[in-house]
Amino acid sequence: MPFAQWDESLSIGDEQIDGQHRWLFFILNRLAESLGHPDEEQAVIRCLVDMERYALTHFAAEEAYMESLDYAGLAEHRILHQGFARKVEEYREGLIAGEVSARQVADFLRDWLLRHVQGADMDIHRSLGLG
Ligand SMILES: [Fe+2]
Repeated sequence: MPFAQWDESLSIGDEQIDGQHRWLFFILNRLAESLGHPDEEQAVIRCLVDMERYALTHFAAEEAYMESLDYAGLAEHRILHQGFARKVEEYREGLIAGEVSARQVADFLRDWLLRHVQGADMDIHRSLGLG
């Protein structure tokens, strides 16, 4: 059983965005698989760097998608994306400093991703009268 699972209930109705969400879950699962391994911290840091980098690419694509729809919630949504980037940075630093555990990093990522896709991202879908 994967740590976090993307399924059709998380589809926001755009193939590109859904594919990117699936990839974020994939990176998260790879991160979760390294929990409890002797090289856990290094592996989690590597995954966090991947996650950070890919999330930025994804957020740019999602924001462009919202722009193309003239989506009213774009500015607010952009702030959520910026908040995530900041949080990931904080968790990475906390992990290196020994203030947070790899497990806490994984839990934060899963909670944020699920809540964000089910909430703010699904709102885009709902705004089209589809969700
Ligand atoms: Fe989003």
